[in-house]
Amino acid sequence: MILRKKLIAGNWKMNKTAADAVALVQETVSLIGKQTDVDVVVCPPFTALESVAKALDGSTLKLGAQNMHFEASGAFTGEISAPMLRAFFATHVILGHSERRTYFGENDELINKKVLAALRNQLRPILCVGETLAEREAGSTLKVVQTQTERCLEGVGKEQAPTLVIAYEPVWAIGTGKVATTAQAQEVHAFIRGLLTNLFGEPAAQKVRILYGGSMKPANAPELLAQKDIDGGLIGGASLEVRSFVDLVNAAIAAK
Ligand code: 13P
Repeated sequence: MILRKKLIAGNWKMNKTAADAVALVQETVSLIGKQTDVDVVVCPPFTALESVAKALDGSTLKLGAQNMHFEASGAFTGEISAPMLRAFFATHVILGHSERRTYFGENDELINKKVLAALRNQLRPILCVGETLAEREAGSTLKVVQTQTERCLEGVGKEQAPTLVIAYEPVWAIGTGKVATTAQAQEVHAFIRGLLTNLFGEPAAQKVRILYGGSMKPANAPELLAQKDIDGGLIGGASLEVRSFVDLVNAAIAAK
């Protein structure tokens, strides 16, 4: 029995107009839109969500957003809420990405509110955690990951835990072409699984997908995806091209 289906999620960041997004998704759907061996999620910018949702209709691919506000509605200029995302049939939302933490001042307390709001609205959070280069060099990787994970998941119930997705994204590996070694990645993934076991118990923790993010490419994916606690990838750059994204999905199918 497969305990955890592998999951490949594309984080397009601030790339692609709605028209470009639809073109990319249509081609992706024509190549892998019917497979059910692994879960595939695309996370376009807000402005492309509606058109991408239509282009995904009838396929097995799922839709995610890259961020959201924790309130359902109100005077929050420029923000987007969970019910708005649900109205586009989004099923996932990336929360706490290191770029949100670094450039937009998001901290664990705020991200925690977003995680709880996502779960209240039947959206699956893809919660990002990970250390900077300075933190790794100081030997504090596991401490940083522990603090982020525990604070961001405060108040999450045991019964909600299996719907969580955690993405371990070492900040020094994002968009740099530097990838964590399989041993470095597996060590942190197993550590996160242990934290989840402490928080939610073994059966729930075994169901949580823990993705690796940080320069994952078709060339390095097979080795990463073969690790016991690496259940997929959160892909930036390589999700912007059909060929590399489809190759990553195929690598996950081969590793399932
Ligand atoms: P890259 O795959 O471009 O390194 O980005 C990773 C990432 O930040 C995904 O959220």
